[in-house]
Amino acid sequence: MLLTGRIPRHVGIIMDGNGRWAEVRGLPRIEGHRRGAERSKEIIEVSVELGIKALTLYAFSIENWQRPSSEVMTLMKLLEFYLNKELDRLIKKDVVFKAIGEIWKLPEHIQVIIREAEGKTASNKGMRLVIAISYSGRNEILRAVKKMLYSGIRPEELTEEAFNSYLDTAGLPAPDLIIRTSGEMRISNFLLWQGAYSELYFTDTLWPDFTEDEFLLAIQDYQRRERRFGAISVRADAP
Ligand code: IPE
Ligand code: IPE
Ligand code: MG
Repeated sequence: MLLTGRIPRHVGIIMDGNGRWAEVRGLPRIEGHRRGAERSKEIIEVSVELGIKALTLYAFSIENWQRPSSEVMTLMKLLEFYLNKELDRLIKKDVVFKAIGEIWKLPEHIQVIIREAEGKTASNKGMRLVIAISYSGRNEILRAVKKMLYSGIRPEELTEEAFNSYLDTAGLPAPDLIIRTSGEMRISNFLLWQGAYSELYFTDTLWPDFTEDEFLLAIQDYQRRERRFGAISVRADAP
């Protein structure tokens, strides 16, 4: 893997297009999800090798609960299968695993697996792998506001930093780069607060086709961006 230059600290990925990948091949949608899950596994490994500090994968949104129950059920089974299968490897790679979203809405046995994966990787020191499941940005913000109100925080104490600490992503840096596959140019309720200044990268590639090379292209694209955060370009200011 050849990549020099600035590596984003935190990358978020909206892994979209599994269904279409399967449909164009005359396969059931779930086959697309299965191939998509394989791809996630690969991208996690590449992220570790690249030295990315945090990777957040959007796996299932709150809105996705509206899908036919057979699709939801198979997605849950896939999640269970991969977490069970990959946990040892995550431990070996020193990854810290965390799930964000309304985890308590997931089937009980999946919650158990998630807690186990979080517990067994909590003292690791390597990349933080965050899976957003039953997650939506607005919902996360509202839950954060509720937690804050219950905590009795005084309005004067409320800063952006304090607010961050009530979000599911507390302790994580904001995503530097958010990638969305499948040609859709929207955020679909992903990391709304955290993504305020993220660089966005859209590609037509469907998630099951998003190879390591495609990932490196996205990072190279990021490396060419000038992040001004509202200030003026350093070059523009030069005499
Ligand atoms: C992304 O693929 C995975 C989930 C949202 C769970 P989709 O299932 O949305 O695939 P398309 O967008 O229908 O192709
Ligand atoms: C976004 O994809 C959610 C995930 C990738 C988990 P969707 O396919 O659900 O989003 P829309 O419907 O295109 O906005
Ligand atoms: Mg989709």
